[in-house]
Amino acid sequence: MNHFLAISDLSSSEVQNLLDLAVRLKKEYFEKGNPPIFKGKVLGMIFQKPSLRTRVSFDMAMRHCGGDALYLSPNEIGLGKRESIADVARVLSGYVQALMARVFEHEHVLELAKWSSIPVVNGLSDYNHPCQGMADALTIQEKFGKKKGLNVTFVGDGNNVAVSLMHVSAKLGWNFTLASPEGYDLNLKAIEVAKNIAKETGSKLSFLRDPHDAVKGAHVIYTDTWTSMGQEEETAKREKVFPPYQVNAKLVSEADKDVIVMHCLPAHRNHELTDDVADGPHSVIFPQAHNRLHAQKAILARLFGVA
Ligand code: CP
Ligand code: NVA
Repeated sequence: MNHFLAISDLSSSEVQNLLDLAVRLKKEYFEKGNPPIFKGKVLGMIFQKPSLRTRVSFDMAMRHCGGDALYLSPNEIGLGKRESIADVARVLSGYVQALMARVFEHEHVLELAKWSSIPVVNGLSDYNHPCQGMADALTIQEKFGKKKGLNVTFVGDGNNVAVSLMHVSAKLGWNFTLASPEGYDLNLKAIEVAKNIAKETGSKLSFLRDPHDAVKGAHVIYTDTWTSMGQEEETAKREKVFPPYQVNAKLVSEADKDVIVMHCLPAHRNHELTDDVADGPHSVIFPQAHNRLHAQKAILARLFGVA
């Protein structure tokens, strides 16, 4: 693995091996602390957008394993504005040992990877959020084991988080359903990619309008903000379209009795997810957020070739 840009770049067994490594590193961290496998390594973290989880979990992942991380804010770098992406990539390649980048346009993280001589990790783009997808899969396997045929339902906007959830579900042989309003469907290219994966793994993909149909038999109900970063000018319009897609107690009661409710966070409480569900017995939103740390340690360890 040279870079970590999309879950679809990995084979099913590579995805499962990364998850197994995350489980091992997590256990080790809680039992005796991780050994300094990232000693002498610094992760440069380029952020074009705000972040809580991605920023802190990558930083702590590096520190727990004896390495360090450097936060590079939007104003400092001016990626593609103050300086070309190709030049930024080549300069940073001589200073740090890996890069993590959160960008607006997916093309920009691909461009960084093209010009970097060090590993590049996609920390969210307008197309996908693969680090989130790995933490999500880790959380699902912690609850249900390595079973195939689980029903994973995403309710809401067919956004970057939904793309990575669809791809990891297809890789692991889970059935993936999206319920979204018209005009907020998943990226067509991402669907084609998922269909090709599903042909190999037997995963079933469904794209519905009705959230009530979509959650029947669901083992996982997942939602995310109705307005992603970069779409702020559409907020008022989206707030009118999405209320039927709110994940609330009624919707959750229509799923499998052991359903888990997931959200990548930040949540807009009582918009896409009600307080009673977010803080209720089906919710795994905080263990899910904590799993970012463990999944990312595994990704970094593979990229550094130390595990
Ligand atoms: N889920 C997630 O990526 O959160 P942040 O935007 O806070 O990093
Ligand atoms: N879909 C959201 C995810 C935030 C972690 C966004 O892109 O803003």
